[in-house]
Amino acid sequence: MGFVTASAPGKCILFGEHAVVYGHPAVAVAIDQRISVKIQPSPNHLWLLDGSSLNMNRNPHIKGLIQKLWPKQHGAPELSIHIEGNIPRASGLGSSAALSVATAAALRMARGRWVSKTDGTQQQYWLEGFGSTIANSEPYDNSSGFFAAESQDERYHITGKNSVDSDECAILAHGVEAAVQQGRASPMDSSTCSHGGIIIISDVIEQGIDYLYQRTLAMKDATRIWHIHEMSPPSDSDDVYLVIGNTGVHAPTGKQVAKVAEMLQQDPSRMKEIDTIGQIARRGIKALKEGDFAAVGRTMTENQLMLSSIGVSSPELDNLIKAASPSSLGAKLTGAGGGGCMVALTRNPKETSDAIELAGGRTLISRLGSSGLSVDGSQNTTIWTKT
Ligand code: MEV
Repeated sequence: MGFVTASAPGKCILFGEHAVVYGHPAVAVAIDQRISVKIQPSPNHLWLLDGSSLNMNRNPHIKGLIQKLWPKQHGAPELSIHIEGNIPRASGLGSSAALSVATAAALRMARGRWVSKTDGTQQQYWLEGFGSTIANSEPYDNSSGFFAAESQDERYHITGKNSVDSDECAILAHGVEAAVQQGRASPMDSSTCSHGGIIIISDVIEQGIDYLYQRTLAMKDATRIWHIHEMSPPSDSDDVYLVIGNTGVHAPTGKQVAKVAEMLQQDPSRMKEIDTIGQIARRGIKALKEGDFAAVGRTMTENQLMLSSIGVSSPELDNLIKAASPSSLGAKLTGAGGGGCMVALTRNPKETSDAIELAGGRTLISRLGSSGLSVDGSQNTTIWTKT
């Protein structure tokens, strides 16, 4: 029986969460912790998740990806899905984005891709799929990403890792995150979990770092545009670590994002605080580009003050941040807040980790900018394809 296994890293936001939803800059890094997804044909023609019946409504990210990449109406068979990993759920570390990216990669790999040329590595030759350079693939609605394939005289089916594309996995993961977060989601988590490394989102095209693509999403109040870049870890980052402290309090992102939206609706003048987070993130990007980790840490601490001010910190987060501060360059909550995790940038990972644990947090230690999605195993790769 065929199978495909793919994995993606979690993420940690250094600057700009919440403000990035409103189009401001932000920085996130891929962490060492990952989620791995294995898919294989279902033995009993029912959708299975870890051996039990898959409840689509309780797994909206998986449901959304199946609609896009594995559509029943085109004859795609039921699958058995297994998920493993060490990214804690609903804790601000991108577990749902990593799950979405890894699932998208596994489904694409299990399906292959129709292209118009045998060197179909370039997106302009794709006859099916989603990507930022494909105008009509509508990744944010319910379409299933087929176009032109049926009418094409000459077409080729590519299989294996060549059929998997990081931009496609990121845009699909963003689409399902936006749906789950009531239409409000930045591409921060999805791009970081797909591409890995350090991802910089900006309202302008940044000089001196590699440009990936632009994302546009129509939200209720306005259409947002983000420019997404990737950056290698600065050369002297070898002795700098992230120590992540988990409060153990689950805090779904959608709820926190909705809370900020409500605050702004009730008092539009508070957009000033969101704008300030954007300015802080811009200073953080400059410090990171210069490899000035002392300034990166100070800017993270400053960012935390504004996150507290908009009401997304919590007593549990404040407690772990206070414990980490004496031994670190800077510390703040990471992700949506309200619980979940904090992160400290430190040259003394053991000391910082011990301090956080003593204050009641569970810690993870990571380097800055782990690798992005990967296809880790496969056998009889093509489980289904649209012919
Ligand atoms: C969640 O990891 C980050 C938020 O900014 C939401 C988003 O960017 O979609 C809170």
